[in-house]
Amino acid sequence: MEHLRPVLLKGGTPPKLITLIEKLLGATKDIAQLVSQGALAGVLGFSSEKNTHGERQKHMDVIANRLMKGCLLQHSQVRTIASEEEGTVVAGHERGHYVVAFDPLDGSSNIDSNGQIGTIFTIYPARGDVPANSELQFRRPGTQQVCAGYVLYGPSTLLVITTGGPTHCFTLDVASGEFLLATHQMHMPVDTQEFAVNMANQRFWDAPFRRYIDDLLNGEKGPRVKRYNMRWNAAMVGDVHRILTRGGIFIYPEDNRDLQQPAKLRLLYEANPIALLIEKAGGKAYTQTQRILAIEPFELHQRVAVIVGSANEVDACLGYFK
Ligand code: F6P
Repeated sequence: MEHLRPVLLKGGTPPKLITLIEKLLGATKDIAQLVSQGALAGVLGFSSEKNTHGERQKHMDVIANRLMKGCLLQHSQVRTIASEEEGTVVAGHERGHYVVAFDPLDGSSNIDSNGQIGTIFTIYPARGDVPANSELQFRRPGTQQVCAGYVLYGPSTLLVITTGGPTHCFTLDVASGEFLLATHQMHMPVDTQEFAVNMANQRFWDAPFRRYIDDLLNGEKGPRVKRYNMRWNAAMVGDVHRILTRGGIFIYPEDNRDLQQPAKLRLLYEANPIALLIEKAGGKAYTQTQRILAIEPFELHQRVAVIVGSANEVDACLGYFK
């Protein structure tokens, strides 16, 4: 089975970027180890801290952030980092060639019930024209990512990654501590009969989106003329991994629960890396109005609506907003 470095080298990834990816993955292996030990490692439950968005943090949110941050800031190629758990960017090395953003533990509400959780990351070339401590390092569209990926802590620990070529899937071999290639090119079906959405928010959705879901629920008797199934993991990494594996659509639309904040998911370290992985596997990734990767961000922790998955189903969903 092939290791990460030769696979990425063959695909033309620069060696210094591979070294950075390996460094980052070192932290995710530590997270995988702690998560697998659960209560034995004393990492379950809430900490007494709140993050920059006012959300109560789980112990593992704090630990995963510390591990990712510590690991990345040691590396001379890292100019700046941004994390879901940090209010603003953290400066690294002025001469570093890359900037890295991450969600240290996506879906952390699943941790106490032994559900799927993951680390999402994205890497951009550093901007030489702005300092390391500037948020401008990250104010750029997702098309400029040179690497996007997630590590999914599930029954196996998986790495799904692209450096601009195919979306690869690796499995962590616990015996050697190495990620070994499982799927060279993930390909998702263009059609699907499965959707993932938090149905509890139905009454807060806009009319077009409510109509779309109603039509799916009407199955073979409705205008879509096929029976749909629903899956909801409460961790985007888990839902997206299922969709990359067997097709489907994952949607977190805008809603009117909080008019100041209609969308939930973050552009920089959630939507953009997932969008690149999905597109490189043959899927589509949109907000209600535009391709996610084309968005010009205006703030670090910006939120966006997310409609990702099998190409024809994403098109069908977008049709309701026209
Ligand atoms: O904050 C991100 C996240 O945990 C996603 O991974 C997940 O899809 C979503 O939030 C679930 O949120 P909720 O349960 O509030 O709908």
